[in-house]
Amino acid sequence: MPLDVIVGTQWGDEGKGRIVDLLAAAADHVARFNGGDNAGHTVTSGSQVFRLHLIPSGIIHARVGCLLGGGMVINPARLLAEIDELSARGLDVSPERLRLSSAAHILTPAHAARDGAEEALRPGGGLGTTRRGIGPAYADKAARLGIRAGAMRDPTAFGRQIETDCRAAAARLERDHAQTIPDLGSVVETYAAYAERLRPYLADVGAILDRALSAGETVLAEAAQGTLLDLDHGTYPYVTSSHPTYAGALQGLGIGPRHTRRIIGVTKAFQTRVGSGPFPTEVHGGAAQRLRGSGENPWDEFGTTTGRPRRCGWLDGALLSYAARLNGLTELAITKLDILSGIDPLRMNTAYEAGALEDLSELQAAIPSYVDMPGWPDDVRTCRSWRSLPSAARDYVERVQSVAGVPVRLISVGPEREQIIDREAAT
Ligand code: GDP
Ligand code: IMO
Ligand code: MG
Repeated sequence: MPLDVIVGTQWGDEGKGRIVDLLAAAADHVARFNGGDNAGHTVTSGSQVFRLHLIPSGIIHARVGCLLGGGMVINPARLLAEIDELSARGLDVSPERLRLSSAAHILTPAHAARDGAEEALRPGGGLGTTRRGIGPAYADKAARLGIRAGAMRDPTAFGRQIETDCRAAAARLERDHAQTIPDLGSVVETYAAYAERLRPYLADVGAILDRALSAGETVLAEAAQGTLLDLDHGTYPYVTSSHPTYAGALQGLGIGPRHTRRIIGVTKAFQTRVGSGPFPTEVHGGAAQRLRGSGENPWDEFGTTTGRPRRCGWLDGALLSYAARLNGLTELAITKLDILSGIDPLRMNTAYEAGALEDLSELQAAIPSYVDMPGWPDDVRTCRSWRSLPSAARDYVERVQSVAGVPVRLISVGPEREQIIDREAAT
């Protein structure tokens, strides 16, 4: 005991990495459970900014062990690049600290090629995927055609397996999409070399976590993406292909629920989305630019992975309440409250008409029911206690928790580790 799970309650980019980094100071292990390098988690630590895609945000804390769960899809080239980058910055990313589940699936060059080709065929400009091959990799997994990380134990056989898989995919891509896969000539050697480097990292992640939890160690489970991008429960088909939920954490790590202590839903103080799909509280023009920022700051609303400007809007409290129910949240962490300073009035959707959330595929037709709340002119970035926040900011947070039906414990007022208010800490 205990397991604390951190999930996003929106369409991703809620600041999960920032909250994981905060809580990792008191954890023994941090384990990522879903997705691949479609994720981008930015963590600010003093003058250093880390942009993580696959490796859990706990890596920045020297004594924390990091694990990549079997629910993930791994691009070996990108994992090695991230290991090399973090090592060059002085972090220990050795196999003693970082473990990769043998059950995780491997992304091949064919997956990225298929992602692009399938996007081009979809009506209306596609889903707006990150084009990292995530959907095709999970599709192969479900079709029982995928290659698992455990295959890297025999590097040469692994290289050949990847080549056979890619040549078959290349023939289909050529036929159906008139598209080729680059660098297939050297794929055996390239993937054998990746496997040679990655095989020391392979491990039984579920067993490691079970041992740790039974020994009383603290484990943080880190989600990628957000609840509204869940394959089953999100705004299908405008979703990712994995399960960024509490249930997804258990499944993706190979553990049961009995050690769970906190299920923390991270929400931005407003709403954002990258890519296509319904977004009823979206705003445009100057209001959107105000929330997005100009792009000068690392926290401005431009995708960490693709650099795309994020769509912005008012906080959708009705969807937050949906995410709270779906994940069984025990608490909320609100991020980017500082960005709302100076916006007056503030709006929030508190409800949709009955039945509107029955099928999130139909969400675009749902009509928000807004409340307007007074804003606050003050800069809140130096606030460190609940009482030091302006009363209008406290009212806003109280309203969020009453609409969501879940207490707000953590309030982030800036990207730095110490820019946090913990309502359960002594004030
Ligand atoms: P994730 O994918 O959920 O980890 O979120 P991202 O890292 O993609 O996006 C969140 C961005 O907001 C990052 O640049 C964080 O450094 C930044 N951030 C997190 N919390 C705060 C906050 O309270 N205030 C501000 N200004 N930025 C924050
Ligand atoms: P983090 O972990 C925001 C979105 C893409 C696209 C849809 C499907 O940083 O919160 P995919 O490549 O997964 O098939 O794309 O999902 N998406 C994200 N949006 N944050 C993410 O990750 C995302 N990962 C995928 O923009 O709309
Ligand atoms: Mg992100």
